[in-house]
This record gives sequence, structure tokens and C-alpha cells, in this order.
Amino acid sequence: MTTYRSRILGVGAYVPPRVVTNHDLSKVMETTHEWIVERSGIEERRWVDPGEGGAEMAAKACTEALEKAGVAAKDVDMLIYATLSPDVTFPGTGVFVQRLLKLGEIPCYDIRQQCTGFIYGLAMADAFIRTGQYKNILVIGSEVHSTGLDVSTRGRDVTVLFGDGAGAALVGRATDENMILSTHLHADGTEAEILWTESPASRNHPRITAEDMEAAKHYPHMVGKKVFKQAVTRMPMVLMEGMVTNGLKLDDIDMVIPHQANLRINQMVAKLIGLPEAKMHNNIQKYGNTTAASIPICLHEAIELGKIERGDTVALIAFGAGLTWASAFLRY
Ligand code: COA
Repeated sequence: MTTYRSRILGVGAYVPPRVVTNHDLSKVMETTHEWIVERSGIEERRWVDPGEGGAEMAAKACTEALEKAGVAAKDVDMLIYATLSPDVTFPGTGVFVQRLLKLGEIPCYDIRQQCTGFIYGLAMADAFIRTGQYKNILVIGSEVHSTGLDVSTRGRDVTVLFGDGAGAALVGRATDENMILSTHLHADGTEAEILWTESPASRNHPRITAEDMEAAKHYPHMVGKKVFKQAVTRMPMVLMEGMVTNGLKLDDIDMVIPHQANLRINQMVAKLIGLPEAKMHNNIQKYGNTTAASIPICLHEAIELGKIERGDTVALIAFGAGLTWASAFLRY
């Protein structure tokens, strides 16, 4: 059987135009620009205006990814849409992107691995391409958080962290040494409730009540310190795992693109492994945490800035709700 390898052919990103600064938030809840910057590094984020959803943002990011790849929409043969904020309960949001881009009757997956979703999607695309079953796969991370946040002092610990946006990569067949080298996926559900949104829930009858809303169960909740500790432990581990698999030393890696959850987490990860600051790209300062979209948005920016060039060895690392964590190593 012929097997193939996959590579990233093009990357696109889109964020909504509305900028929400820390000062804007401090007008509607008890918080300060200084508190948010000191704890998370975030200065501003983008929030959608009414009418704009995850599918529309994703379609814009995909259009750019296709342009960058020089591949026509008609040649895409699968779509993988990673999100924790689907546009509607069902169907999955991927089909709306398929419709917007007129991709034809290709298979569309929606996957739910939160901040790790883009790397899980990349691993799926890599596996499908390796078998030869599909040739050009759009892997998307797209999130609308702003419509589901508690924009009051009660929800300030979570609300100040999240932003909206979309990123996409077109993954296709490798034709030379530039390829996805390996992916490493993990999950551990034992502490799933330290970062979750409990309602609405199909295990409840009805799925949501006035009491649930009174108790803010329809908003995300996080045990911040536990999440922080897990992130700074798991991300270095999964980076090391990829280095061992590929026989790479730290010096061999040109750029690390970490999930953008908290600048302090990423700085601590770099310090723990001894990675020079110049070898990690962060842009959480401008966009906050866009969960599944954060890695493609950050990767896109690093490429556009010329910080990543063809042939560079790049590591993507993520940690998120579930708990899930993952890495992907690629020769871009
Ligand atoms: N503005 C001002 N004060 C705030 C605040 C805000 N936005 N949010 C919380 N506070 C207050 C708390 O109420 C608390 O007050 P208290 O001491 O009077 O009780 C105080 O600040 C400290 O809160 P704490 O939760 O202990 O802060 P922290 O140092 O743990 O930082 C996070 C909070 C959220 C920034 C940090 O825990 C974190 O980054 N965790 C990981 C987040 C993450 O990565 N999530 C996504 C994973 S994919």
C-alpha cells in the first residue's frame, strides 16, 4: 500500500474588528488593566458584533489558507472544525463552513477538544492523508466566547481571559522533506470539572432551568490555580515527548507556537525547558485566549512576520479543558 506524508500548505486567520480593551472591561466589572496584564499578559481581545458567528469567521480564515496554499476550494476533500463554542447545538458548525465556501459534498467533522482542538484536528488530517484516503484537508479552530461570558464582577476571573477568532490550515500531501513529523495527543478526564461549562446539559431534564442560570451554570468556570499548575507541567512534558520521538535537541527547534492561554504559563514553560524567548511566539496580548483558534492564529502571525520560514522545525504545544494536552512537530 502506498503511504504518504502530510504538510501544512497554507495558514489563514481572522479576528473580528471590535477591540475590547482591559479598560473597557474595567467599566463593566471590578477589574483593572494592571491586574489583567500582570496575571495573564492580555491587553485587549476581539469580540464579535451581533450576527457574526464561528462559521463566518472560519470561512474567512479558510479563504486565506487556500489562497496561501494556492489550492482551489473545489480541491478540498475534507474539513475538520475544532471548537468549544459551536454556532448551534446541532448540526456541527463544519457544515456551515462547507456551505459558505461551496466546498461540495465533502465530509465535515466537528471535534471538541477545546484549547487542544487544533492539534487533535491536525493529527486526524495527518492520519487521513498518510493513508491516501484524502488529499487536501482544512483544519479549523474557530471560537465565539464573547456571547457566553459572564460580563460582570462575578465572572471576572474567566471573562477577562477569552477572545473570539478563527484560524485555519490547509493540510495536504508532502512532496519533499517539509512535513508533519509527529503528533502526540493526551487526555485525562479525572479533573474535567476544573474547567467547564455545566449547562445546558442533555443529562438534565430540562437541560437548563432558571435556578441553573441564577447559579451561573451556563457560564464557564475554572479553578484557575489548578489549571495553571497542570498547564505548566503537561506542556513541557508533551514538548519533550515530541523531541524524543524525533531525536531533536532544543537547539534543533526553530520556533515553538504554544496555545495562548496565559503569557505567564508560556513564559514559565519556556523557562522550565530552557527555551530562549526568541524561539517562542506569543500574541495573547492582542487576542486573549481564543481556545481552538489560538494556535493557528499565532502560527499565522509568526509566518507573516517572517519568524517561521519553509524548512523550519516548528513545535506546536497545547493544554486545555478535558483535560487535554498535545503537541505537533513539523518541518514547515
Ligand atoms: N480582576 C481583578 N481581580 C480578580 C480578577 C479580575 N479579573 N479575577 C479574579 N480576581 C481576584 C480574585 O477574586 C482573588 O481575590 P481574593 O484574593 O480577594 O479572593 C484574587 O484576584 C486572586 O485570584 P486568584 O484566582 O487566586 O488569581 P491567580 O493568581 O490564580 O490568577 C488566573 C488567576 C486565572 C489568571 C490564573 O489562575 C490562571 O491563569 N490560570 C490558568 C488559566 C488558563 O490558562 N485557563 C485556560 C486554560 S486552557
